[in-house]
This record gives sequence, C-alpha cells and structure tokens, in this order.
Amino acid sequence: QSDVSGDLANVLLTEEQIGAKLDEIAARIDADYAGKDLLLVGVLKGAVMVMADLARRLHHPVQMDWMAVSSYGSGTKSSGVVRILKDLDADLSGRNVVIVEDIIDSGLTLSWLVANLRSRGPASVEIAAMLRKPDAAKVDVDVRYVGFDIPNEFVVGYGLDYDEKYRNLPFVGTLAPHVYS
Ligand code: PRP
Ligand code: MN
Ligand code: MG
Repeated sequence: QSDVSGDLANVLLTEEQIGAKLDEIAARIDADYAGKDLLLVGVLKGAVMVMADLARRLHHPVQMDWMAVSSYGSGTKSSGVVRILKDLDADLSGRNVVIVEDIIDSGLTLSWLVANLRSRGPASVEIAAMLRKPDAAKVDVDVRYVGFDIPNEFVVGYGLDYDEKYRNLPFVGTLAPHVYS
C-alpha cells in the first residue's frame, strides 16, 4: 500500500495545534486535581493517541486504565446501546475519573459510558475529548475538557479511523471522497 497522502482532502488540525491544545488541557487537569487521586480511563481504540500524549504532559501522578466498547448490533450507532468488550481493571469506588476520548460525534458513546461509570460509585467523573462535532450531537454530553469543535465532516487521524485505517496519522484530516465512495 502506498502513502496515504492522496487519500486526504485536507488537514484540519496539525500535530503542532494538537500539541499546543494538549499543553493547555494538561495544565488545567494538573490544577484541577492537585493533591487528589486521578484515574484516566481511555476508550479503545480511538483514544490511544490522546491518552498517550495527554498523560505524558501531566505532572500529576495519574493511573491509566482502558475500556473497549462497541455500539450494539450492526454498524449503526444510532441506538445508543453500547456493549462492553473490555472492562476496566480498576475498581472505581471513591476514585476521581477522567474519561479520555478522541471524539464526541453523536455523543451516544460517552453519554452511555458516563452513566455506566457513575453507577460504580466514583467520587467524580469528567470527560476530556480532543474533538467534538456540535452539529452531529444527538444527546448533550457535559465535557469538562474539549480540544476543538470541528465541522460535521468525516475526519481521520490521531486515533480516528476509517475502516481501521489512518489512526496512526499524527494530525487530523478529512478524507477525500474517492476513498469512501
Ligand atoms: C468512535 C470514537 C468515539 C465514538 C464517538 O469510536 O472513537 O469513541 O466513535 O461516536 P459517538 O459520539 O457518535 O458515540 P468507534 O466506535 O468508531 O471505535 P474506535 O474508537 O475503536 O474507532
Ligand atoms: Mn472510539
Ligand atoms: Mg472507529
């Protein structure tokens, strides 16, 4: 397979823009959780890049855990019913949790996940998401830390995939129509 650059229509966020935003978010998290316990929960697979780049910017001694979830049934996410493919190892009772996500699209994944984690008796649950698509929202999700609001276009890179590809791009871009048509 050749270089992916021909598959991209344009770059929406550069590696530098993402890094600068993560510096800001990390500083806020350090301040907000100073002297407190903090568990970062990454949502596989999209959140891998954000988790790695955010966590290494924190001075706070966080722990990291991971969940893998999938919308129930066939392909469509519109039901909002989510299935746990891999659960946390950590017990959440009394913990301060920040869920780390790459993107909030319809909001259905995170609204389900927040409710699920809140039912486990944590001290607090907040969300850090690198991207949010306000025009795609089907449910309101209360996000404490958001990187960028972006247009309702199909984006890939920095953890985001199309058919499991493009996750490893260090930037966020839009796909050229020929790729998915
Ligand atoms: C993507 C993305 C978010 C979710 C957002 O994950 O990483 O987790 O969709 O969509 P929503 O707001 O409409 O629920 P996906 O289910 O594609 O799995 P992946 O992270 O493994 O790519
Ligand atoms: Mn995901
Ligand atoms: Mg995906």
